[in-house]
Amino acid sequence: VVGASSGIGEAIARELAANGTPVALLGRRIERINDICRDINARSGTEIASPFQADVRDWRMTGGLFASITERIPTVDLLVYAAGVMPAREPERQTPGDVDAIETNLTGAVAWINEAVMQFTKRGRGTVVGISSVAGDRGRRGNPVYNATKAALSVYLESLRARLSATGVNVVTVKPGFVRTAIIGTRAVFPPAASAQSAARDTLRAAERGARVAYVPWWWHPIVLLMRLVPAPIMERLPI
Ligand SMILES: NC(=O)c1ccc[n+]([C@@H]2O[C@H](COP(=O)([O-])OP(=O)(O)OC[C@H]3O[C@@H](n4cnc5c(N)ncnc54)[C@H](OP(=O)(O)O)[C@@H]3O)[C@@H](O)[C@H]2O)c1
Repeated sequence: VVGASSGIGEAIARELAANGTPVALLGRRIERINDICRDINARSGTEIASPFQADVRDWRMTGGLFASITERIPTVDLLVYAAGVMPAREPERQTPGDVDAIETNLTGAVAWINEAVMQFTKRGRGTVVGISSVAGDRGRRGNPVYNATKAALSVYLESLRARLSATGVNVVTVKPGFVRTAIIGTRAVFPPAASAQSAARDTLRAAERGARVAYVPWWWHPIVLLMRLVPAPIMERLPI
């Protein structure tokens, strides 16, 4: 699980381990990753969780890191890319934060998912899950670069799914709505935010059934369909 030190990624790692699946947790904050792994291992009574430190923006490190993970878990057949950042919602755009979001949400995703796909296609099986967002389904004034990275990630995953359709490798696009994690903080949101645990369970169910695209929770799908119908002049005035 790439981006497992908090939020949805942490909850996915915990859920996998609770079901008896050996899991590698990656993120920059290695102390948090170590604490989570210690807790998971204490609960399971085995060394089921392994910590790895990685900054996904260092995409040249991906091949070596993936090899270290497969040394630890030779049967790895699932990659969940949950790493993501949302640049500050300032009135004047700050370019460093925007570039950081592109590198984390998109460049890192492409590097990790390509690496997993190379390994999984050799074996003729495996599942890649990309955590995109409903934010990629329609441009809005709130956070243009975040929206753009998620739109690009969704289209990359859709294209990859087409390319891999005859290989036995599944590509699953997960599009959460609001989830109560550090990314939205304590901000009041409507519709109400799901918990990281329920988003994790929905994500893993989608991976298990080999869904193409899963909205999390499911009822974001009709909301997004309606949002797509809102005419641009109205959309441009909405404060979201
Ligand atoms: N929460 C929501 O409402 C919501 C809605 C739709 C989609 N999403 C998406 O869900 C995913 C998970 O986010 P979250 O809500 O669970 O927020 P979160 O708690 O802030 O988790 C973000 C994760 O990404 C990792 N990460 C960020 N930059 C990284 C980097 N450079 N290298 C490695 N790991 C990095 C973080 O680990 P470190 O900081 O330790 O590196 C952390 O584990 C994101 O892609 C987000 O865009 C969230």
